[in-house]
Amino acid sequence: MILVTGGAGYIGSHYVQYALEQGEQVVVLDNLVFGHREAVPEGVELITGDMGDTDLMNKIFTEHNIDAVVHFAAYAYVGESVTDPCKYYNNNTVATLNVLDAMRRHKVNRFVFSSTCATFGNPVRVPMDEEHPQSPINPYGQSKYFVEQILRAYHHAYGFQFVSLRYFNAAGADPKGRIGESHDPETHLIPLIMQTAQGKRQHIGIFGTDYDTPDGTCIRDYIHILDLAQAHDLALKRLRSGGESAFYNLGTEQGYSVREVVSVCEKVCGRKIAVQELPRRAGDPPRLVASASRAKKELGWQPRFENLEEIAQTAWNWETSRRY
Ligand SMILES: NC(=O)c1ccc[n+]([C@@H]2O[C@H](COP(=O)([O-])OP(=O)(O)OC[C@H]3O[C@@H](n4cnc5c(N)ncnc54)[C@H](O)[C@@H]3O)[C@@H](O)[C@H]2O)c1
Repeated sequence: MILVTGGAGYIGSHYVQYALEQGEQVVVLDNLVFGHREAVPEGVELITGDMGDTDLMNKIFTEHNIDAVVHFAAYAYVGESVTDPCKYYNNNTVATLNVLDAMRRHKVNRFVFSSTCATFGNPVRVPMDEEHPQSPINPYGQSKYFVEQILRAYHHAYGFQFVSLRYFNAAGADPKGRIGESHDPETHLIPLIMQTAQGKRQHIGIFGTDYDTPDGTCIRDYIHILDLAQAHDLALKRLRSGGESAFYNLGTEQGYSVREVVSVCEKVCGRKIAVQELPRRAGDPPRLVASASRAKKELGWQPRFENLEEIAQTAWNWETSRRY
């Protein structure tokens, strides 16, 4: 059985759905600070609690026959991590250490970790492969980078087996429309555009139009949520079959500028989106694009959504019929 922390959140819930379809048994731990009970499929046990609670973690490992942890639980607002770093170091690093130590006590040593391209900081070359230097520029990225360092040490000292997946920008929703993205506050570009298309927001802000990119706006790599789910499944299969611990970057290897994303979404939503051009935001690199060849080669990962229009279509279907 797999323990999925943060399984009621955006990416975690899509992984849970995918894992069930692969015949896995899962139990979800989520404190529902950002997650949604409705995102956890019927029949899956949802334990509502905090991963920083040592007694709860012991109870979960005692009562369930867990052989692996897929760890999504974290706070993920970069801006907030700058104004309240304590919250990020405590939840993303210290509480994760609590999960790892509970695993150690209960002799569970397979761990798949939601890492991020934010562990790299400002790119020195693009596309970014796994060997790109890591120098995170905000507490969010650091809190994840610290966990990566802890994993290396736990692997060395205690025989922990892990795969750390560094996602670029997660996007889209379950193509069957059962679950999707629902963050509050929402900070991700595609749902913000779609909510603007629905009249729920007046306009979409573009932060910086004078970057050294073809249209002056920032370029990002958008990866579909099911392709991320697939990578977690493959990562766990790798660990279960005795594969080495590893780090993988996950993206489509294709960058889209903010203006390009707006224009693709306009096509998908069938309406014009009001745009407000704003000054640059501190800490936004001009271009973040993954090199994902290692994941393809070593995990056999094959992203199915390589086209932004298809990804945006799943997000639009969700936005127009969402349940939570
Ligand atoms: N969304 C992205 O583009 C992106 C990119 C890179 C990495 N990530 C990472 O992926 C993971 C999932 O991101 P998401 O977008 O699904 O976020 P999310 O907020 O939707 O999901 C995180 C879940 O973890 C839960 N949680 C947080 N702290 C907890 C705790 N102490 N105990 C129990 N549950 C807790 C929240 O309630 C939430 O349901 C995070 O670790 C994030 O850092 C996300």
